[in-house]
Amino acid sequence: MKMRNTLSVTLALCIILFITLMDNATVGDFTLVSRANWGALPPRQSLPSLGRKPLAIVLITQTNSLGCYNNTSCLDIIRKKQTFDMNHLGKLDINANFLIGGDGNVYEGRGWGYQSEEERSYDVKSIFISFIGDYSQMVPAKEQVDATMELLKLGVQQKKLSKNYKILALRQVTNILKPGVHLLDVIKTWPHWVPIINLYARSYLRNNIIKDLLFAHILNIEMDHLLLRSLSLIIGILLIGIFFTTANEDLIDNSNHQIIKLRPDEISAANEFTRNPKDLHIITRTDWGAQPATDSPRQLKVQPATFAIISHTATQSCYNEAKCILNVRVIQTFHIEAKGWLDVGYNFLVGGDGNVYEGRGWDAAGAHTHNYNNRSIGIAFVGDFSYKSPPKEQIVTAVRLLDHGLKTNKLAKDYKLIGQRQVAHTQSPGDKLYNVIRTWEHWSNNP
Ligand SMILES: *[C@@H]1O[C@H](CO)[C@@H](O)[C@H](O)[C@H]1NC(C)=O
Ligand SMILES: *[C@@H]1O[C@H](CO)[C@@H](O)[C@H](O)[C@H]1NC(C)=O
Ligand SMILES: *[C@@H]1O[C@H](CO)[C@@H](O)[C@H](O)[C@H]1NC(C)=O
Repeated sequence: MKMRNTLSVTLALCIILFITLMDNATVGDFTLVSRANWGALPPRQSLPSLGRKPLAIVLITQTNSLGCYNNTSCLDIIRKKQTFDMNHLGKLDINANFLIGGDGNVYEGRGWGYQSEEERSYDVKSIFISFIGDYSQMVPAKEQVDATMELLKLGVQQKKLSKNYKILALRQVTNILKPGVHLLDVIKTWPHWVPIINLYARSYLRNNIIKDLLFAHILNIEMDHLLLRSLSLIIGILLIGIFFTTANEDLIDNSNHQIIKLRPDEISAANEFTRNPKDLHIITRTDWGAQPATDSPRQLKVQPATFAIISHTATQSCYNEAKCILNVRVIQTFHIEAKGWLDVGYNFLVGGDGNVYEGRGWDAAGAHTHNYNNRSIGIAFVGDFSYKSPPKEQIVTAVRLLDHGLKTNKLAKDYKLIGQRQVAHTQSPGDKLYNVIRTWEHWSNNP
């Protein structure tokens, strides 16, 4: 009797111990902060459901905001992000299924149950996980990575994710370069990551038709294996098929890439959230998917340069990274293919999104202003500023770029800043922008 009792007690203890261990393994070592706990607003209307079947795809992105390393500042950013997504981007709710803070907490967004609004063809079948921060600059914290792993484990255990789900970076399937390379580098080491690219290539193809079948350099994916190479060749061929069968459509505008038209006041509100206002954000050639120059450009003859020449591209404006990247690529293609130049003509381009797009950079001579190319830095504002002024962000970014050039001794201490129209037969940079630059410190009336 006694023995039986002991036995059953032991058995019970074992079961309890087992369950406890199981439980720990299940819940893992991370805190899931529910919507109620971070003070979420309700969604604007009911969100489309993700269905009951375990999902096969996890897409990783980033908030493009400042990072946060304690729960107070993470909460603050999460709340701002929700307001930003709903008020400025017109989303129904905060736009991610989960957000991962640098504090190691997981913040519930739309959860396992509801679709995000990021990339139409993926929204219905993926969980979007957004790392708080901008990983083109920051490196993800170990706590963040660990928490993500635990969340994914939980997802599999609760049958929200299929056992062999796939992880992709958002930039692998869109032309939006999120997350930044430092997070991408980490994702690439995860067991469920897959080295494919697909929709991204559409827009790339549009501008670079079959120039580079593999597109590998854009993604920084090392194609080591022959197998992988063949695979990408097949994918490439399929994509070309897609391209030609749909060549008449405007692929970019049809594919829900969120080309959002913001009013200038909205842009400043938006940028307050998305960027540290003090940062100069330069998108490198690799990051905007530049085609290689057809020949190596000449170096500037006069260094540091004695002139900075402001022009406009006389194209459509752009107010977000995706659209600016597209514009910059089109401009490069135009300069190479129509004008026969060896590369995009400018040293830098400045977008209405507040990013600088690297052209020929600080050291090479541009092809923008005859007689001045060998001693000047050519900076083009993306857009046409004959009748409208550029948004504040674009102006501020250009000023910061000039300042950076001065500090790094790429521009002479007494460099002259001029509008292209002062030394060339052109209206560029447009009346409105010209009026702006005439107020700048280095502007010169006699070039
Ligand atoms: C939380 O982080 C922010 C900035 O990231 C910092 O200013 C603040 O002092 C931190 N708060 C605590 C309680 O550590
Ligand atoms: C934030 O973290 C501290 C200590 O880590 C904890 O005591 C506090 O409850 C947390 N606050 C929230 C809102 O999660
Ligand atoms: C720069 O180019 C102009 C016109 O092509 C030429 O006259 C001038 O001598 C060049 N300057 C230098 C320093 O080579």
